[in-house]
Amino acid sequence: MATTVIRHRFEPRGACRQAFESRASELLLSGPAGTGKSRALLEKLHLLALLHPGMRGLIVRKTLASLGSTALVTWNRFVVAEARRAGDLSWYGGSPQESPQYRYRNGSTIVVGGMDKPSKIMSSEYDVCYVQEAIELGEPDWEAITTRLRNGKISFQQLMADTNPDTPTHWLKARCDRGVCTMLDSRHEDNPVLYDKDGSITEAGRAYLSKLDNLTGPRHMRLRRGLWVAAEGQIYDSYDPAIHLIDRFDIPESWTRYWAVDFGYTNPMVIQWWAVDPDGRLYLYREIYHTRRTVDVHARHALAQVVDADGNWTEPRPRLIVCDHDAEGRAVLERDLGMGTVAAQKTVTDGIQTMQGRLGAAGDGRPRMFLLRDSLVERDPELVDAKKPTCTAEEIPGYIWDLGQGKAPKEQPFKVDDHGCDAARYISAELDLKQTPRVRIM
Ligand SMILES: Nc1ncnc2c1ncn2[C@@H]1O[C@H](COP(=O)(O)OP(=O)(O)OP(=O)(O)O)[C@@H](O)[C@H]1O
Ligand SMILES: [Mg+2]
Repeated sequence: MATTVIRHRFEPRGACRQAFESRASELLLSGPAGTGKSRALLEKLHLLALLHPGMRGLIVRKTLASLGSTALVTWNRFVVAEARRAGDLSWYGGSPQESPQYRYRNGSTIVVGGMDKPSKIMSSEYDVCYVQEAIELGEPDWEAITTRLRNGKISFQQLMADTNPDTPTHWLKARCDRGVCTMLDSRHEDNPVLYDKDGSITEAGRAYLSKLDNLTGPRHMRLRRGLWVAAEGQIYDSYDPAIHLIDRFDIPESWTRYWAVDFGYTNPMVIQWWAVDPDGRLYLYREIYHTRRTVDVHARHALAQVVDADGNWTEPRPRLIVCDHDAEGRAVLERDLGMGTVAAQKTVTDGIQTMQGRLGAAGDGRPRMFLLRDSLVERDPELVDAKKPTCTAEEIPGYIWDLGQGKAPKEQPFKVDDHGCDAARYISAELDLKQTPRVRIM
């Protein structure tokens, strides 16, 4: 039988190398953006699949949709490209019973899945699981994965994960602090695209790091410096993705819809779709969040979400469209949507208070505002590239008070990365402030 020799070059460095070699039962590779974390763990998974016939691996993220645009791009482009060309593995798209997976010629399998649909992936057993962006998971997700690690085809079983840092109180950080999971800290110097072997920065490295240098607040601390820090002065400090960011569900026709709009061009323009349940809870279920598009283009895209090819609405029309104060933007939007809009309440602090109230637990212990995962219609590559928030859910944790010199505490938000937060505040204020009759002093 003729054998083909395929050549593949990969040289891990620093903490990425340690992760590549580690056999710890739970391993977390933490670090700022772009240190090579995902690449190292994917390379390891592929190598294990090649070396151990019959090995079963899993690549998993909180949602399958988010995996397609991240880990699998690196996987297909850099990790398995030559091996696929040589026929060492092939892609199987899945069936109602089976998850999508890569099947190796030697009998190894690497399954791809999301914890939003756990039944498909959790009915199998694995040798090694790779969790991408592990802070998105809840601890029960993590623990569920550990119970599936018993395929026994290699000499160790491992749950390995990567992430950018989050708050110092995050369950995953606590798990590492307790010694249950081993944390390795990667650095930009670990990535040969950014730094040469001798430690000098490359041209690509300079360009990439200058983008990260432009970040502010907790995003800078986490994505540039790799630190597990809380956002100082966080406005929505009761916001907890484990509570407020929920899995998608079909929204009943009977629930009232509202749209909220924050205009922008260089900054993203945001259009949010909200539904209200019979108890008055708000659910963000769809969102446009995109830079460098004019209002008429946004209006067209928004309509395309709700109107079919025959011009029929596929979901209830919004009761109100609440917009920020841009007369020209509103005029264009009204014209192109063929619907009226209302201007948002102008006062910032009382609007923020309504949203803080909604995010806090109500009398029955549940908040009154939720965001559905993967509500974003299309991720803006320019924002991805700049490491800016790409949707409202990514903005909220870093939305902070302006604590600059001479500023009264808790008066003004810091005016950066606040577009989705503004739109969410408009809708919250619209529903909660306008209901209470305001006293007019004559
Ligand atoms: N050792 C390496 N050799 C060659 N290229 C590498 C190496 N490490 C990383 N890269 C490349 O650098 C880029 C960024 O790597 P990767 O996506 O793994 O970073 P990351 O730390 O996971 O980033 P993020 O924090 O944004 O998820 C990828 O294109 C990857 O292929
Ligand atoms: Mg990554």
